[in-house]
Amino acid sequence: MEIIIQPTEADSVDIAARIIARLLREKPNAVLGLATGSTPLRLYRALIAMNLDWSQVTSFNLDEYVGLDPNSPMSYHSFMWANLFDHINIRKDKVNIPDGTAKDIPAFCAEYEEKIKSAGGIDLQVLGIGTEGHIGFNEPTSSLGSRTRIKTLTPQTRRDNARFFDGEDKVPTHVITMGIGTIMEARENLLLAFGANKAHAIAQAVEGPISSINPASILQMHPQAKVCVDAEAASQLTRSEYYKWVYANKPAWQRL
Ligand code: F6R
Repeated sequence: MEIIIQPTEADSVDIAARIIARLLREKPNAVLGLATGSTPLRLYRALIAMNLDWSQVTSFNLDEYVGLDPNSPMSYHSFMWANLFDHINIRKDKVNIPDGTAKDIPAFCAEYEEKIKSAGGIDLQVLGIGTEGHIGFNEPTSSLGSRTRIKTLTPQTRRDNARFFDGEDKVPTHVITMGIGTIMEARENLLLAFGANKAHAIAQAVEGPISSINPASILQMHPQAKVCVDAEAASQLTRSEYYKWVYANKPAWQRL
C-alpha cells in the first residue's frame, strides 16, 4: 500500500487526477472503475478540466441502488452522467453501471462480471470508503472473495447517504455492488478519503488487521493500491510521518 497524505483534499485530488490522466495518455483504451458519492466529485471536476480523450475508454461503476430507475435523480446513473460523463467524450456504449431495476439480479451480476472480464479487466479502480470501512457497498462482514451481487446496506450507511435523499427512510435498503474479489482484480486501486469522519475507517484499513469488519483493509493484500488522503482523514494514522517521508523521497523514476 502506498499512503499519500496531502494537506488538503484539493492537493490529494491533484495527484489522483494526474495518476488517471497518465493512464489515459499511456493507454487510451483503458478500463476504469469508477465510484460515486461525495469523495470523487472534485476529482471528476479536475478530470473534466483536463480535456482528456475518453473516446476509447470503457468504464465500470462499482454500484447502484436496487429499485431505483436509472433516470431517478438519486440513481448513480444520474450521478455519473451529471458529474462526469456528460462533460467528457466517453462513448455511451462503453459506460457500464449496475442496473438497479434488473429483474433477475443474480443473472445481471454474473453478466456484469463477464463484461469486466471481456473488456480485459479493470486497469484502475477509483474507490471511496464508508465510515465503517466499506469499499463499493461491501459492508462489514462481506466476504473478502465476493463477486458482484446484491447487498443489504447497514443502518450507518443509510444514515450517511440520507443527505442524497429526502430522509433516511427513503434510502434504498439494497444495492448491487462489485464484490471485494472483483475490486481486488483491478490492476491498480486508488482509494480516496477526505475529512475527519473517514479517519477511523482509514486507520483501520491501513494499519489494522485484514478483516471483513473493515473491508477496505483487504487492500493491504493488493500489489498496486494507493491511498490518497487529506490531513484530516490521515489524522488517526500512527505512522503518518513515515508515509510522508516515503512519498517525499520517492526515486525520480517513481514520481508522477
Ligand atoms: C460509491 C461507493 C461507496 C462510497 C462511500 C463513500 O460508489 O462505492 O463506497 O465511495 O460510501 O461515500 P462518500 O464519498 O459519499 O463519503
